[in-house]
Amino acid sequence: MRSRGLELRWRRQSQSQSMLAAVVLGVVVLLATAAACAGAQQLSQSYYASTCPNVETLVRGAVTQKLQETFNAAPGTLRLFFHDCFVRGCDASVLISGPGDEHSAGPDTTLSPDALDLITRAKAAVDADARCSNKVSCADILALAARDVVSQAGGPYYQVELGRLDGKVGTRAAVKHSLPGAGFGLDQLNKLFAANGLTQTDMIALSGAHTMGVAHCANFVRRLYPFKGAAPRSNPAMNLYFLRQLRGTCPLNKYSPAAVAMLDAVTPMKFDNGYYQTLQQQKGLLASDQALFADRRSRPTVNHFAANQTAFFDAFAAAMAKLGRVGVKSGSSDGEIRRVCTKVN
Ligand code: HEM
Ligand SMILES: *[C@@H]1O[C@H](CO)[C@@H](O)[C@H](O)[C@H]1NC(C)=O
Repeated sequence: MRSRGLELRWRRQSQSQSMLAAVVLGVVVLLATAAACAGAQQLSQSYYASTCPNVETLVRGAVTQKLQETFNAAPGTLRLFFHDCFVRGCDASVLISGPGDEHSAGPDTTLSPDALDLITRAKAAVDADARCSNKVSCADILALAARDVVSQAGGPYYQVELGRLDGKVGTRAAVKHSLPGAGFGLDQLNKLFAANGLTQTDMIALSGAHTMGVAHCANFVRRLYPFKGAAPRSNPAMNLYFLRQLRGTCPLNKYSPAAVAMLDAVTPMKFDNGYYQTLQQQKGLLASDQALFADRRSRPTVNHFAANQTAFFDAFAAAMAKLGRVGVKSGSSDGEIRRVCTKVN
């Protein structure tokens, strides 16, 4: 904006002056671009090469051990990373515990305690190495752990960029408009993901995370019964057999608040492209899942990922890298290396 004003004012001046203006403008644009990318530029795969060279092995070890005890930590950790990045950026603010914290609000109330335990253990494993103690951010540990749960569940292994600082603030107020709703249609999904620098293809690939894990009845029960007045904003068609089965899981007005159904009913414990195949069969659990197949603008991508797992894995890895750059903090004014992941220093 400012450089545009410069340009307009300087246009009426002499030839040599406008050449000078062009040079100055170029510098202004370069500086502005550098400032805008400052956060992302700090990230690098070898960020801890000298301070904690074995950070990846330490995190992976903790992940392996936790998943042997409970597979639930795999979907839980992947979701935790997504929610962290969409609320105030990938800064581990989601892990902060205290009055009015993020996980006391909205969708974050169902974040997985096993996932939090996994991160706590990974942090302990990292800090137990004398070289690494208090040198690796919780935000980076979460990014690495999210990659590791995906690969250990059968998904792609991809390189993770590192160098995020932990945020100093976590408030429930930030959760409200930052996360997608289970009733979202394609336009709402695209709008929210675009606000985080993600394309429709990124959004469809990241939704493939729903190849693992569960949802509580409250998030899809509106799709199962005719509701007077309060019809969901989007309710794409559902396979009839699947519908009957889900009515059994969530009986009208009688379901337990703890009752859940698998997001990928076919291979819930495997990170694969089965999720997209369930969408083709109209067995997507959430309205937001089935919308990806129901809407003809996104259906070709769903069909592509359903037919070609490699294409899905590549797109997922690329989208996770972009997700991991959202709102990264790299300055001491807004970031730190937290000593305890659940507390600011
Ligand atoms: C596209 C928009 C999305 C919507 C509307 C959405 C919504 C939801 C909802 C409602 C649940 C169930 C929560 C519960 O009832 O406990 C859920 C679970 C889950 N979500 Fe998403 N999500 C979206 C995108 C993502 C993304 C991008 C990721 C990760 C990259 C992700 C990973 C997961 C995982 C792994 C679970 C299962 C968690 C568990 O079993 O502990 N979701 N999601
Ligand atoms: C599947 O996708 C990968 C990666 O995009 C591509 O290299 C490969 O040719 C595709 N396979 C088929 C059978 O289309």
